[in-house]
Amino acid sequence: MIISDDDNKKPKLNKRTEKLSPSVTEFDMTFENNIRPKTFDSYIGQTNLKNMLKISIEAAKKREVPLDHLLFYGPPGLGKTTLACVIANETGADIKITSAPALERPRDIIGILMSLKAGEVLFIDEIHRLNKVAEEILYPAMEDFYLDMNTGKGQSLKTLRVPVPKFTLIGATTKAGSLSGPLRDRFGIVHRLEFYSDEELKQVVKRTADILNIKITDDGAVAISKRSRGTPRIANRLVKRVADYAIVIADGIVNEKIANDALDNLNIDKFGLDTTDRALLTVIAEKYQGGPVGLETLAASLGEDSKTIEEVYEPYLLQEGFIQRTSKGRKLTPYAAKMLKLQLDDMQQSLF
Ligand code: ADE
Repeated sequence: MIISDDDNKKPKLNKRTEKLSPSVTEFDMTFENNIRPKTFDSYIGQTNLKNMLKISIEAAKKREVPLDHLLFYGPPGLGKTTLACVIANETGADIKITSAPALERPRDIIGILMSLKAGEVLFIDEIHRLNKVAEEILYPAMEDFYLDMNTGKGQSLKTLRVPVPKFTLIGATTKAGSLSGPLRDRFGIVHRLEFYSDEELKQVVKRTADILNIKITDDGAVAISKRSRGTPRIANRLVKRVADYAIVIADGIVNEKIANDALDNLNIDKFGLDTTDRALLTVIAEKYQGGPVGLETLAASLGEDSKTIEEVYEPYLLQEGFIQRTSKGRKLTPYAAKMLKLQLDDMQQSLF
């Protein structure tokens, strides 16, 4: 169940439908719900985390207590919501899904806590954006399963202690560092989700193609996985785009050549970088002589929001060794400089 109080409080979605941004779009929400794995067996990747979760779930069952509250952090698109749904399913619990911007007023968070059933999972996305008041309402609910509610005014002001059904909170964030200490400390399990390997992404691609009745060869799946930035959300989006291309241009079968042609057409290079990634690297190289350049200056040069750069684009560029973060700002690595030069040479060659 996806909770949102009214239209203004819907989880904030990225309405852009660009090919590669791992941010969630409204299209993704429906698409992802249709193909979401429901069990640990069908959830690919994040092996260490899955093993640890299986033990925690088993232990909670044996002790007959709710599973500890969990915090998942890491770049967007790696399956934090999906994993929360898997956990709920594996524990036989219902899940309520919401996001911090939808919990602006005290009554939003109180309402959702009061509506929970015993054992239910509450998933709060972007939990680092929870305001102070909401956080303080959450603390006793997380710790001892009660809410402090004020009634009356002035001299007749009373605080009522209201019990909340025992629940498991799963918080997700792309910015673990922005979470307040007291909130972070109330999670029993805090875990980072990792980028997926090419092999894991290949399995994701094949699974999705299977569900969508798309014919794909092994090589075709490998080609898509290599350009998916370690991110299943991107891999799943690309499967659909490449399948469309295969139907229009060829016989509908996604093989290596079709996949590579389609991805070239979408302006996704062999490193999985899209036009924004390349613009970011090129600006640092050309306008700031390789850096260092401050995040805000870089964002202004690109006409992008600094948060989007930091939370969406940078994590993969950092992990793949294209950029470095220094105390003075972002710097291009020699590896990225070499890659940009090679791409420029390729472009010049294809012109002549
Ligand atoms: N789709 C998105 N993430 C997935 C995952 N981890 N396993 C299988 N399918 C997925």
